[in-house]
Amino acid sequence: MNAIITGIGGYVPEYILTNQELSTMMDTSDEWITTRVGIKQRHILKDDTKGASYLGQMAVLDLFRKKRLQPQEIDFIICTTSTPDHIFPSTASIIAEKVGIKGAPAIDIQAACSGFIAGLEMAAAYIKSGKYKKIIVVSAEKMSYMVDYQDRQTAPLFGDGAGAVIVEPTSENFGIMDTQLYTDGSGLKHLQMKSGGSASAASHQTVDRREHYIYQEGQAVFKNAVVDMAEVSAEIMERNHLGKNDIAYLIPHQANLRIIDATVQRTGIDPKKVIINIEHFGNTSSASIPICLWENEKKLKKGDNIILTAFGAGFTWGAVWLKWGY
Ligand code: UT7
Repeated sequence: MNAIITGIGGYVPEYILTNQELSTMMDTSDEWITTRVGIKQRHILKDDTKGASYLGQMAVLDLFRKKRLQPQEIDFIICTTSTPDHIFPSTASIIAEKVGIKGAPAIDIQAACSGFIAGLEMAAAYIKSGKYKKIIVVSAEKMSYMVDYQDRQTAPLFGDGAGAVIVEPTSENFGIMDTQLYTDGSGLKHLQMKSGGSASAASHQTVDRREHYIYQEGQAVFKNAVVDMAEVSAEIMERNHLGKNDIAYLIPHQANLRIIDATVQRTGIDPKKVIINIEHFGNTSSASIPICLWENEKKLKKGDNIILTAFGAGFTWGAVWLKWGY
């Protein structure tokens, strides 16, 4: 038995924050952001009363509508997010309640930008175990809530959005064919939210030190992302005897166009086969890959070999080989 993605939903909030508008908020320019990162605009959830669960809810409802699914059919809901509505309970449980899923397990995964591929691996394992038949993986990120708009090195990078897939069993030779995940916990010092968790509780001082925003040492993250995404993509291709010409699409995490270009160069995959949407969405963390799938769903054909690869805080990284199933 294989596990297969049988549908995709997505959602991005209406408000578009352009490089021009950002340039009025801080010392930056459209030219710098475009050439150094490849982003022109990002979608932002402006409503302070709504968290990541709202974005996830909208993506799941889109999936329900497209697939004509009823909430009671869902056996399990996995949410991947670095921007949960609350530290507890899980954002998955809040999304489940909002979309009418009652009783099914609803659990969050924290693997930063690699969350979607980690969620897919988990969903595939549960499906193959035979215990569950319909699992939703929803990646929902309100990155803007933890962006420091006084930090010009990180503020231009991030956007908000969500993508959701449904994973089901199949006896056909399609689906989530292979996965590989890695973690190197020494990455903590380069990319984190310093306070607000149990190691450094929120206080007036942590707020004054601006420690509830994303802290990133861009160059260290950049160097690791390029090497690790390229290596894990090559690894999953080699062990499955997939040459670069066998690949229909490479879908990398959308963090920086220069990281994507360098990864593509190292794998030797034709740049025309690489799906990129960073220009208009920015980095939506774990939502970036499912948003790419959602936006490009019509292009994908049954049997297409697709490599997903991601890198994020932790450090976490990995790759997935999909044989597209519809
Ligand atoms: O998804 C999670 C994983 N995250 C990532 O993969 C992000 C990885 N890192 C990056 O994408 C890049 O390191 C950044 C986009 C964050 C930064 O790009 P960079 O090419 O590494 O820039 P830099 O930090 O080396 O800065 C180069 C110059 C500096 O000026 P000087 O010292 O050369 O005069 C910065 O002060 O660019 C300056 N700079 C800016 N200038 C205009 C930094 N940010 C900006 C800005 N606008 N927004």
